[in-house]
Amino acid sequence: MAPVLHILNGPNLNRLGVREPSIYGMATLADIEAMLRDRLQERGYDLIFRQTNHEGELVEFVHAADGANGVVLNAGAYTHTSVALADAVRSIAAPVIEVHLSNVFAREAFRHHSYIAPVAQGVVCGFGAQSYWLAAEALIEMNEAGRLET
Ligand code: DQA
Repeated sequence: MAPVLHILNGPNLNRLGVREPSIYGMATLADIEAMLRDRLQERGYDLIFRQTNHEGELVEFVHAADGANGVVLNAGAYTHTSVALADAVRSIAAPVIEVHLSNVFAREAFRHHSYIAPVAQGVVCGFGAQSYWLAAEALIEMNEAGRLET
């Protein structure tokens, strides 16, 4: 069975391409999914790619990723507000990497705090759509390293 990564997106990320392009770029979420699907396929990985505008649904997406080889999570604004999402991340065994297209530390103060970062394996932000790929590559590396140890 091929290893699988879940790439999970929170609120307003379905608006990429039209939403504040000077901050988030011109790529749509479908463009980002296509880029990741191609690159992950080359590396022999399956991809589950999801987006929701609802906090509880995002919590359920995280639960559903429990058996996966890793999770790339762009929780959007829920990053800065959601204890429930942080608890969901703590509840699963799969490593989770928090990602953001924008450099949240160069933006408003309310974006500097993350409920997810303390329970994530790591954080990638500020590289636009490439943030997702950098996180996916880190998960692949972690996976390969784990496989070598066993
Ligand atoms: C974001 C950053 C968040 O602060 C914001 O609420 C988003 C997008 C990003 O990818 O840069 O919705 O997660």
